[in-house]
Amino acid sequence: MRAIVVNESMYGNTRQVAETIARGIDPAGNVPSLPVSKTNGINPAELDLLIVGGPTHAHGLSRESTRNAARTTVTRSAGDLSLEPDSAGMGIHDWLTSFSGVEGRAAAFGTRFDAAALLTGRASRGISRLLRASGFELAVESESFLVDKATHLLAGEEHRAREWGARLGAIPPEELGSGE
Ligand SMILES: Cc1cc2nc3c(=O)[nH]c(=O)nc-3n(C[C@H](O)[C@H](O)[C@H](O)COP(=O)(O)O)c2cc1C
Repeated sequence: MRAIVVNESMYGNTRQVAETIARGIDPAGNVPSLPVSKTNGINPAELDLLIVGGPTHAHGLSRESTRNAARTTVTRSAGDLSLEPDSAGMGIHDWLTSFSGVEGRAAAFGTRFDAAALLTGRASRGISRLLRASGFELAVESESFLVDKATHLLAGEEHRAREWGARLGAIPPEELGSGE
C-alpha cells in the first residue's frame, strides 16, 4: 500500500500521533510520516491512501495567526512546551487547498483538548472537508486524539492511534483502488 501520513504540529503531539498511526498501518515502518512543510514533491494522486492530521486551533484548522499565537505561548510557558523544528511554513489548510481533482482515498485526524467536541471544535472536521473538496473519498470516519490542559497526550491515546492506523492498514487493496 502506498500510504503517507502528513501532519502539522506545533508542539509535537500531532507528530507523535502521526508517527504512531504510520506504525499502525505498517509495523515494518514502510509508511512515512512527514510534516506538511516537507510535502514538496509529494503527488497525492500517486498514493493509495493519504492520511492528514493537525492540531485544533480556535475550534478548527490552524491559521497563520493561531500558529503565531502558539509560538508566543511557547515563550511564555517556562520551558514546558517546545516548538517543533518543522512547524514553520505552511499549514495543512494551505497544502490541502493547493490541489484538486484527486481521485483517491484519504483519512483525517486531529488533536484537541479533552472536552466535548461541541466546545473544543475539531481540526479533523476541517481536514475531512478539505480532503473531500480536493476530490478524495474518506476511507474511514475521522478521529480525534486528546491532550490535557498542559498539552500532553492523554494516557491511552497512543494506543488508540496505533489501533486506528491498524484499521487503515487492514483496508483491502481493492477498496483502495490499488488491487491487481
Ligand atoms: C492558538 C491555539 C488555539 C487553540 N485552540 C483550541 C481549540 O479551540 N480547541 C481545542 O480543543 N484545542 C485548542 N488548542 C489546543 C491544541 O489543540 C493543542 O495545542 C494541540 O492539539 C497540540 O498539538 P501539537 O502538539 O501537535 O501542536 C489550541 C492551541 C493553540 C496554540
